[in-house]
Amino acid sequence: MQDVDAVRGELLARVEAADLDGLERLRVAELGKKGRITALMKDLAGLDPDARRLRGAALNALKEEVANALERRRTALADAAIDARLDGERVDLSLPVRPERPGRIHPISQTIDEVVAIFGEMGFAFAEGPDIEDDWTNFGALNIPPEHPARQEMDTFYLPGERDGRRLVLRTHTSPVQVRTMLNQQPPIRIIAPGRTYRSDYDATHSPMFHQVEGLVIDRDLHMGHLKGCLSDFLRAYFAAEDLPVRFRPSYFPFTEPSAEVDIGCAREGGTLRIGPGRDWLEILGCGMVNPVVLQNCGIDPSQWQGFAFGMGLERIGMLKYGIPDLRTFFESDLRWLRHYGFAALDQPSLVTGL
Ligand code: DAH
Repeated sequence: MQDVDAVRGELLARVEAADLDGLERLRVAELGKKGRITALMKDLAGLDPDARRLRGAALNALKEEVANALERRRTALADAAIDARLDGERVDLSLPVRPERPGRIHPISQTIDEVVAIFGEMGFAFAEGPDIEDDWTNFGALNIPPEHPARQEMDTFYLPGERDGRRLVLRTHTSPVQVRTMLNQQPPIRIIAPGRTYRSDYDATHSPMFHQVEGLVIDRDLHMGHLKGCLSDFLRAYFAAEDLPVRFRPSYFPFTEPSAEVDIGCAREGGTLRIGPGRDWLEILGCGMVNPVVLQNCGIDPSQWQGFAFGMGLERIGMLKYGIPDLRTFFESDLRWLRHYGFAALDQPSLVTGL
């Protein structure tokens, strides 16, 4: 049987010589479940009671002594490592600070947030569709026949390839989200769908990529009065003007019947435009009662359900509210523009805290 004193002498010497990794290996090899001291403890079973008591006490003392030595050495090595780092590292307090610029929310994101917040409080759910559509969902289902001017190659970006035998397009409006929603959801429906849209067009008020927001409500016994109330409330909340004049002008869209364009009141004075009561009108969006043909195309029974829908350009309403003169600047990625027209991240829009 091994002599306890000899084991102690050997172990303490090895602890003193070990580095941090070596200490851990020693701990496992000597004190661990399969370690040497544990094995010596197990040998006690073969001794007579007196000898077992004596040797047991000695082994326990050895175990504790080795554990303490390990811990002492570990602390000493860790302290030395920190001291060495503190000696070696220097902070140069004379270095100038790098300026940090907080990011800004893009006016389009802000406008989407505001629109979604207002319609959200009216009980509208958020919906989305893909930028790449097929021509049936973008046109056909919406009662836009193949010879309709909106389909002309000049306006629409057609993509190579097809899906289920249908031509692919970059969606020219958010109205296909109406179709997708009606095909996938049972009425009643109340959704708002902001997103990117594409047309081959480029000047101060057009960009080939722009944003629209679509609204769709399907329910029983809906009529133009609901549409007028909903959109007037929205426009007055969005432009934060209780007295904003709102006018519904008869118009035509293939997917609504009857259709209307909505104008808001404004005043043009000495080259500036003020939104609110005034002598002039600004066209702001298109809307109407969902054409029964469209309901039928999307599997909804027009004798049971009616709907109203609307669509508007997000850059346009953002430009009007925030005085941004040129639509193309939205997408030029000029940081000076974003710092000027952008919003702080904490300006979260809400009808309660104000927009
Ligand atoms: N999709 C139309 C456009 O891009 C806008 C529109 C008009 C949407 C009337 C509608 C609507 O939902 O009812 O010009």
